[in-house]
Amino acid sequence: MKAEREKVILITGGAGGLGSVMAAVLASEGHCVYLLDLPQVKERADILLQKLTEEGGRGTFIPMDVTSETDWETAVRTVVSEAGRIDVLVNNAGINIRKVIEEMSFDEWMQMMAVNTGSVFLGTKYVIPVMKEQKEGLIINMSSVCGLVGHMYTPEAYTATKSAVTMFTRAVAAERLGEVPLGRLCKAEDVANAVQFLVSDQSSFINGLSLAVDGGTTCY
Ligand SMILES: NC(=O)c1ccc[n+]([C@@H]2O[C@H](COP(=O)([O-])OP(=O)(O)OC[C@H]3O[C@@H](n4cnc5c(N)ncnc54)[C@H](O)[C@@H]3O)[C@@H](O)[C@H]2O)c1
Repeated sequence: MKAEREKVILITGGAGGLGSVMAAVLASEGHCVYLLDLPQVKERADILLQKLTEEGGRGTFIPMDVTSETDWETAVRTVVSEAGRIDVLVNNAGINIRKVIEEMSFDEWMQMMAVNTGSVFLGTKYVIPVMKEQKEGLIINMSSVCGLVGHMYTPEAYTATKSAVTMFTRAVAAERLGEVPLGRLCKAEDVANAVQFLVSDQSSFINGLSLAVDGGTTCY
């Protein structure tokens, strides 16, 4: 199915498990995807991009470390000069060092903080000016169930990084202040679109969710 409007979409960790599937799905809808991932996964990214292209999609690999401010500056400048805009940033890159507290070093803790949380801060920092200039844009942050509840089989450090992502997302959404952070009242179509998504097969793994179609009113 082709999207109503083709969007320029950046996906961090775009060559990884979830990122590559997102990229394939979004490219098949006609969007232009940029995979932002480590230089060492170039081969994996190239294979994915070749497949996308053969199927009529468009995609580019940008080798970078999402914890590097310089890399973010360069990546955003490159995309804007090539594509002219950034419609969506998916902050998806993440790592999980599977160690309990007693066995985890402080360096490992900080590494998880840098990749899982620091990258979300940096990506947001560098795309916000572009999106403000365009007067539109969407940032999607990949948290986790562990960003909502503690989980006995998941390292505490991972839970700490993901809960930070959850609250950072709410704080950034709330910054567009006003009674409705998105700045307009709900239209009937907004509700219909949410229902359409829930009815579709694309929502088949969603269960027990309270989906607020409220422009961010309850995001705090
Ligand atoms: N897979 C799951 O079950 C699951 C569940 C909940 C949340 N998540 C979250 O979804 C996201 C993607 O998970 P996944 O399973 O696809 O992981 P994955 O390990 O398959 O992919 C992660 C990608 O991030 C990239 N990456 C790691 N560090 C980087 C860095 N410093 N700079 C640039 N890229 C870097 C890796 O190269 C890799 O391509 C993560 O944030 C993860 O925490 C995953």
